[in-house]
Amino acid sequence: MTYYENIVILTGAGISAESGLDTFRDKGGIWAKYDLMELATPEAFARNPDLVHEFYNARREGVKKVSPNAAHFALAQLEQSHPGKVTLITQNVDPLHEKAGSKNLMHMHGELNKARCLTCHGVCTWQDDLSRANICPSCGQAGALRPHIVWFGEMPFHMDDITICLEACDLFISIGTSGSVYPAAGFVQTAHGYGAETVELNLEPSDGDRLFSVGHYGKATKIVPEYIAGLIKQD
Ligand code: APR
Repeated sequence: MTYYENIVILTGAGISAESGLDTFRDKGGIWAKYDLMELATPEAFARNPDLVHEFYNARREGVKKVSPNAAHFALAQLEQSHPGKVTLITQNVDPLHEKAGSKNLMHMHGELNKARCLTCHGVCTWQDDLSRANICPSCGQAGALRPHIVWFGEMPFHMDDITICLEACDLFISIGTSGSVYPAAGFVQTAHGYGAETVELNLEPSDGDRLFSVGHYGKATKIVPEYIAGLIKQD
């Protein structure tokens, strides 16, 4: 059995699906119901901020009703028990990883429960509805708060730290992501290029499944706890 000192895990919407949150590209997913060009670009927000706020307010309300599932808890348990380093990078904007207890976590596409000021760039916790009437708690400007979400055409957060982690890891695990959005979709190649073992855990083979050396397919609440239990046994 191989011991992995430095583990990097990338998660996507599939890990939160069984908690009750819609994925983006599955049948009936968020981008099948809504036009992303009207809701998830900086241009859309400039054109119609009320519509964009309404969409994210509904999603912010939605995450209040859901809880982490067995897959989120398994990753938190690995972080706590692993003698080496575990870094979790999520594309998800929901708070389920931190609610499950994960600590070394980067939200590369932002967080639903935060807002950012277009005037002072301050980021604040925001649990309830956001609108143009709200005032930035840092600078007092009205109408300048936006969802702290990375929209299409914007640069994801934490990219320098993520690159350092990918270059240093010896095991890269991708969970519940279709692998259709870059730069996250390219992380497997970076990790592989630096010598890491690469594992995909997903409902079905993703767009980039050939890039992984190992794949386990099925529901996250089954395959993630099983796979993580195997890793913990090796520690
Ligand atoms: N268990 C495991 N995997 C699942 C489950 C489940 N119960 N349900 C769905 N999946 C898988 C799907 O098979 C699919 O491959 O999760 C993946 C979800 O893919 P997407 O909907 O494309 O979500 P994601 O990869 O996170 O999207 C990336 O796109 O619009 C953006 O910013 C948004 O962060 C998001 C990014």
